[in-house]
Amino acid sequence: MDFMKTYKIAVLKGDGIGPEIVDATLRVLDVVAELFGVDFSYEEGLIGGRAIDEKGTPLPEETLELCKRSDAVLLGAVGGPKWDNLPTDKRPEKGLLRIRKELDLYANLRPAKVWDPLIESSPLKEEVVKGTDMIVVRELTGDVYYGEPRGIFQENGKRVGVNTMKYTEDEIRRVVRKAFEIALKRKKKLTSVDKSNVLEVSALWRDIVEEEKKNFPEVEVEHLYVDNCAMQLVRRPNSFDVIVTGNIFGDILSDEAGVVVGSLGMLPSASVGDRYALYEPVHGSAPDIAGKGIANPIATILSAGMMLKYSFNMDEASALIEKAIDETLKQGYRTPDIYSEGAKKVGTQEMTEKIIENLRRLAK
Ligand code: IPM
Ligand code: MG
Repeated sequence: MDFMKTYKIAVLKGDGIGPEIVDATLRVLDVVAELFGVDFSYEEGLIGGRAIDEKGTPLPEETLELCKRSDAVLLGAVGGPKWDNLPTDKRPEKGLLRIRKELDLYANLRPAKVWDPLIESSPLKEEVVKGTDMIVVRELTGDVYYGEPRGIFQENGKRVGVNTMKYTEDEIRRVVRKAFEIALKRKKKLTSVDKSNVLEVSALWRDIVEEEKKNFPEVEVEHLYVDNCAMQLVRRPNSFDVIVTGNIFGDILSDEAGVVVGSLGMLPSASVGDRYALYEPVHGSAPDIAGKGIANPIATILSAGMMLKYSFNMDEASALIEKAIDETLKQGYRTPDIYSEGAKKVGTQEMTEKIIENLRRLAK
């Protein structure tokens, strides 16, 4: 009897364009399953604004349970104007922050590379951006995002806003190790980003990187202050390989890296811990274009590609997805967000179909 490997994927479509881009991605995964002789089963859960509307919370318990009994989580995007006036604690984004914490997804991997057919969509000069291929490893479950105390308090009859930047050495060490391991499989260059000229948290961060460096002698290490890094990212983007940094700096720098290479619509991400993993595009829910059939599904499809690689060890299938996307771009197909003069403008469906056609062709 034939034994077919089955992977259970928790599917959290979310808000805005989330459902459209996730549906497109599931079509691609179905084709991958067929081509590689595996089976994917999908089970949907609520998160974000829709979960607030239907269950009164951005992350219902049953969604969390679903994620914990699945092999991986695929997420679309959360948020929208409908929920914008809720307090921070009740917003759709809280669902995202809670799921990261509950699943202990401490390392957020955000690759940013230039796709040659799209090089003209970078705001930088071609000679500056050519060859750029980096990955930001952002710590995802600590820092000022989660530190206590936090809140808006009263002090002498005036309001005062408080957040706490905090990292334990174990929290730093585990993500730094992950980054070193990733660097070993790439160009063996690690840039650690901090603000150790001002912050004690960062001084500790830098110490830990120096300690861990001894375990990875093949990797070249550079330390940059975050302000300098922000500058170097636009001056010499192609000199970076792996960037490791804390939650808040990583949030900011990964958006910057994204725009440097061309389009936020192309950026995938993986959030991994020691037990669970979640895959989602870096871009948001784009409520302004939701339901119009024009959203770019590529970032989500690439996120599924990362799932194949990191959660299912299907490296070949993951590479094939990238190749099929590159091919589709070379053929001139563009969703509106990456459109330029002379290209063939297509919507979500058609882009997905072209990618699938190329997948099938390249798999032969
Ligand atoms: C991201 C987003 C989130 C973050 C928001 C939506 C909470 O900007 O994933 O980068 O700040 O982590
Ligand atoms: Mg962000």
